[in-house]
Formats: sequence, C-alpha cells, structure tokens
Amino acid sequence: MRDYFQDIIRFLEDKTGFFFDEMGKSKVSTIVKDRMRSLSQATLQGYVEYLISANGLDEQKIFLQSILIGETFFSRNIDHWLAFKDIILPEILKSTQGQKQKITIWSAGCSTGEEAYTIAISILEMQKSIEHCNVEIIATDINQRSLEKARHGVYNKNSFRGVADHWIQRYFIEKEKGYYSIHDPIRKMVQFERLNLISADSFPGGYEYFDVVFCRNVLMYFKPIFIEKVIEKITDRLKVGGFFLLGHAESSFVPRNQYKPICYGKAFIFQKQEIEEVTQVSRESYTNDTDDLIVKKGTDITDELDYKKPISQISVDQAVETHRAKTQNLSAPPYEYQSAINFYLAEDYEPALKIINQLFSYEAFTFDYLILKALVLIGMSNLTDAEQCHVDLLKLDDISPEVQMIKGLILELKGDTLSAVKAYIACTFLDKQFFAPWFRMAHLCQSKGQFEKAYRCFTNALNVLFADNKERIKLFCGGLSQSVLEDICKRRCNSIKTK
Ligand SMILES: C[S@@+](CC[C@H](N)C(=O)[O-])C[C@H]1O[C@@H](n2cnc3c(N)ncnc32)[C@H](O)[C@@H]1O
Repeated sequence: MRDYFQDIIRFLEDKTGFFFDEMGKSKVSTIVKDRMRSLSQATLQGYVEYLISANGLDEQKIFLQSILIGETFFSRNIDHWLAFKDIILPEILKSTQGQKQKITIWSAGCSTGEEAYTIAISILEMQKSIEHCNVEIIATDINQRSLEKARHGVYNKNSFRGVADHWIQRYFIEKEKGYYSIHDPIRKMVQFERLNLISADSFPGGYEYFDVVFCRNVLMYFKPIFIEKVIEKITDRLKVGGFFLLGHAESSFVPRNQYKPICYGKAFIFQKQEIEEVTQVSRESYTNDTDDLIVKKGTDITDELDYKKPISQISVDQAVETHRAKTQNLSAPPYEYQSAINFYLAEDYEPALKIINQLFSYEAFTFDYLILKALVLIGMSNLTDAEQCHVDLLKLDDISPEVQMIKGLILELKGDTLSAVKAYIACTFLDKQFFAPWFRMAHLCQSKGQFEKAYRCFTNALNVLFADNKERIKLFCGGLSQSVLEDICKRRCNSIKTK
C-alpha cells in the first residue's frame, strides 16, 4: 500500500533540503492534520494529490511556511558581530589597500532580515574606515513571507533580544506601541531576494563573488548531501581571504582544507584559504547511510580532527578557556547533587532523577543539573525527555562541548550512528581535551569493523585522557576511572594492531 505520508516527506525534502528526524516527522504530521481540517479534506491521499498537483501551488506555499523555522534576532551571537568589526572588516579593508572597491556581503537564509540589517548597522558604525568602499549587502531566503517582512523593516521586542535600548533608539523609529521601523537609509542598504539554496542556480543575481557570507542556523536542518552541496557552492563564490560564518552547531560542516578557523570569544569564523593543491573537499560526500561511518571517496569523517593535527591550537584553546572561565565562578554544588551522581553511576536512575528534579531550585547549577538529568534519562532510554533536556541545555549554552556530547549520546540511542559521530566530532572541535567523544567514536568504529579508525580514535582518546577533567570523564564514561579507561584503550589498540 502506498505510504502517502512518506510522499509528503519526500516532497518537502526535495523542496527544502531538510532532514526529517522523528521529531520533524511528527511536526509534519501535525501540520498535515491542521491543513486537512482547514481544507475539509477527508483523506490523506486526497490531500497529497492536491498538494503536489499544479493547482496546489498556494497550498505548497502555506505548507512550506509552516515547516520553515525563521527564528532570528538582531545581533544574534554577539561574538560574531564583534569579530565582524574587529577582524573581518579590517582584514577585507587591508586587502583593498586603500583603493576604492566594492565589498559584497551575503546573508543566506536571512529570515525576516535582522541579520542583514545588523550587517548594515555594523558597516555604518565603521563608516570612517570604510567610506572609500562601496558596500553591497544581499539577503536571501526561500520564504517569501519572511522576505516581505524583512523589506518592510518593522520589528517588535522579540527581534531585539540581543540589543540595548539605546541601540534601538539610534537606528529605529517607534511606529506604534512596541513596533519599531528601521531608519530608511539602513533599509535601503540591503537588497532582499528570494532564493532556494538547494536549487541548481542558487546564487543571488548579479553577484559573482562575495567577501563575506553569513549562512547561520540554516544548514543544521538540511540533509548531509545538501549541506555539502551548499557549502561547496558558497565556497566557490567566496573570495580567497573572504569569511564564512555559520551557526554554532554548524561549524563542524566546514571543510578544514579550505578554511582557517578563527575563534573569537564563543564564536568561530572561517577564512577561505588559497589552496595550492586542491584536494577533495573532505566533507564532500557524506553518505546518508547511517550504517556506515565511511565518507565516500575514501575520506573519513574522523580524519579532520585527529588530535595530533589540531586545526588551530589558539582557536580551540580559546574556546575551551571561555567555557571554563564561565563555569569556574560558581561555588560548590549542594551535596544532593553528588548523591544524584552516585545513584546515576550505580545505574540507579529513578532516585537519581528524583533528586535532580528537586535540585532545580538551586538556580546557579541548572546547567550541571540538566547535563546530569539528560544522562540519567539516556540511561533510562527515555528519549523524549532526554531530547527536551537537550533543547533546554542548548538554550543555556549552545556551544558547550558537553551539550554536543549529550546530543551524540541521544543520537546513538536512536540508532543514528552517523549523526552521533558528527556530534562527537563537534565536541572534540569545541574542546580538544574532551576524552569521552573520542572514546565513544572509537567504540562505534570498532563495532562497525572499522578498525583503523577505531585505533586512531583510541589513540586520540589516550592522548587526552589525563588532560581531561576526572569528574567529567566519570560522568560521561559510566563512572570508570582514568586508569581503567587507560587500560581499556591500550588493550583495544593492541588487539586491533594484531588483527
Ligand atoms: C533559523 S533561520 C536563520 C536566520 C538567520 N540566518 C539567523 O541565524 O538568525 C533559517 C532560515 O533559513 C531559511 N531556509 C530554510 N531552507 C532554505 C533553503 N532551502 N533556501 C533558502 N533559505 C532556506 C528559512 O526560511 C529561515 O528563514
């Protein structure tokens, strides 16, 4: 019997490039039910046939708009904006050598325009040093309705989460209570255009090359094959020395042989490098097959983060420092927290969960409690609540390596090995001394019979074992001590060597 729901999923994947996991599918299912009710359509078959027919174009628009996530606000990820002014613009200006020149900046997946206007305002604030250049800002999105709002340039407090009142007063005029219109000269600095990033001709018209591309919080929803294609296209159109900015969760998608990562505060920016010998883009061909960790064309997704070849010592160190500095100012957690940990390590999950839930009244430790709660829920195989915990953790700190680790463990529990490995790679990228992700990756590779990779991961795990924090190791490795883990890793390496 034909699976009409699967037809809708396929249709949406083709249109947007999105990857639909169980949560995504359940969202689609809710929308389908809503739409069938609105159209008084009694059968799923009838609805699908209408949706994909020539008469269904308006319905397609409505459906796509409900599925697209347009979350955005001004100055989102403040460190990117500081880096934009302190590193990116000065670097680009250096390359102009004082000559009159055009600088082109693209906000890809701009949603309702807050990102593009933040670019415009940052340029204005740098006006003195940049006045000899002609700056053009192009902003694109697949969602026509978002673009209309962007062109209109009127926002409420939801869009101003990241900024101070005086900033709003300087660049906006209050239209009516709670609604602010961006100054006209700033509005005119940005050109908005509809563009689907996954279509063949997906480049904003008239522009050949860009100095800076912002494509933040867009690719994280895509299937790996589309992530790779979009990144390749953007890379082709980015000038050498130009900059590429992605969302926190997306940094690990960037091909390391083409970009230099630079860490600024909590953010990473990527500068395109001159490549003498263009080897294959290492992330070129993620396979979709979750059963196989190998990337096509002989490239291994774990290759790029070999501990012996850190991509940039300074970048990674700084990221770790920022995270540690943030977590160090806290006083000791209450003793109940330790007893919850003890229950968890003894795999006695019910009492551990009970204690953690009571602990949430101590606000200062919410992050640690949530990590522990997520681990307990994973131990209980309670996917739904573990995923909710992960969402809550992301709200507190979306660049934390521990949060990525939780994501990896959840994905493993779901059987999505390839995505789990990607999350673990992100962990090692965010904190090069994090033992647990190497250890987990080693196990996954070994269980898949990929012994060479398993060997490399165990070696990398050994390299960081004594540099990592003991408590963190225990928490993420089921209470095993460093010496036991050392023994395990060495034994595994030896047994792989003799194969
Ligand atoms: C979460 S918003 C990100 C907005 C902004 N870049 C930021 O970081 O604040 C993601 C945007 O990507 C857009 N998008 C999703 N799929 C797209 C595609 N295939 N082509 C172009 N835009 C797409 C969505 O419509 C949405 O506006």
